[in-house]
Amino acid sequence: MIATNDRSLTEKILKLKEEKSIYIIAHYYQQEDIQDIADFIGDSYAMAVAAQKSPQDTILVAGVDFMAESAAILCPDKTVLTPEPKATCPMANSISVDEVLKFKEKYPNSIVMSYVNTPAEIKAVSDICCTSSNAATILKKLPDDAHIFFIPDQNLALNTASNLSRNVNIYDSDCPVHAALKKTDIEKLKEKYPDAKVLVHPECIPDVVKMADYVGSTSGIINYVNNCDQDTFIIATESGVTYPIRQANPDKKLIMASENMICPDMKSITLQKIYDSLKNRETVIKVPENIRLPAAQALEKMIAYTS
Ligand code: 13P
Ligand code: SF4
Repeated sequence: MIATNDRSLTEKILKLKEEKSIYIIAHYYQQEDIQDIADFIGDSYAMAVAAQKSPQDTILVAGVDFMAESAAILCPDKTVLTPEPKATCPMANSISVDEVLKFKEKYPNSIVMSYVNTPAEIKAVSDICCTSSNAATILKKLPDDAHIFFIPDQNLALNTASNLSRNVNIYDSDCPVHAALKKTDIEKLKEKYPDAKVLVHPECIPDVVKMADYVGSTSGIINYVNNCDQDTFIIATESGVTYPIRQANPDKKLIMASENMICPDMKSITLQKIYDSLKNRETVIKVPENIRLPAAQALEKMIAYTS
């Protein structure tokens, strides 16, 4: 139930975003009251495309920094706001430009394929980006003999490449929210709910992915439940995805694979911060043009390979 204070804040936000003509794009890991006020909710790929197609010239991105940055990279003529500049992705920040450049120096003909969960500077030294929803599609389109450096999520890289029997160089990093989930967590739940379908995000470790009935992005997981006749599901991704699933499927039973699957950075964004951001038109994301241009090429290439 929405508290009265939150309800009046929600109403104030809805009014302000109309007055100021600001388009709100949110990720599925956002708090429920934030998903309620968004004009568009999606996975990280859909958020980037939605920014390009936004009917308004100012966009507020309710998600971690790389999501707002992707919008700013792809939409140089639009103003992109973040309500919480400190909301970041620890995995995205784990790799340095130096490490990527050293790899390229050692293997001059290699292809650097970077997950969108990276800062603009890393995208700028990458050949192509990918998200959890299109990593396999993109990998299949790269030449069979290509020497690929798939950064920075080792689990997404391993889960995608091993399925396609591709050899890739991986980087030793992962998402703390997904990588902490163990095979035994799923095994215990399967004992209790043997008929439950297990839906897993590819940022989970390969041992967990092997137990899945479905592996995919946040949108993929939501669509799977929406289109499946089964009534019980074990959800192995951040808890925010259960909100749109519950709204569309009030009679289905959703069991979180672990109670710890909560991303603190995603959850650091609040309605109050969104209100302040709309009111003051802060904080504007700015990517220097010498970084934005090559980063946009890697993102545009991803979009071209996906569509
Ligand atoms: P999606 O692209 O599947 O929404 O994932 C983003 C993310 O950060 C997962 O942890
Ligand atoms: Fe990063 Fe993991 Fe949070 Fe996604 S869930 S934003 S990968 S820390």
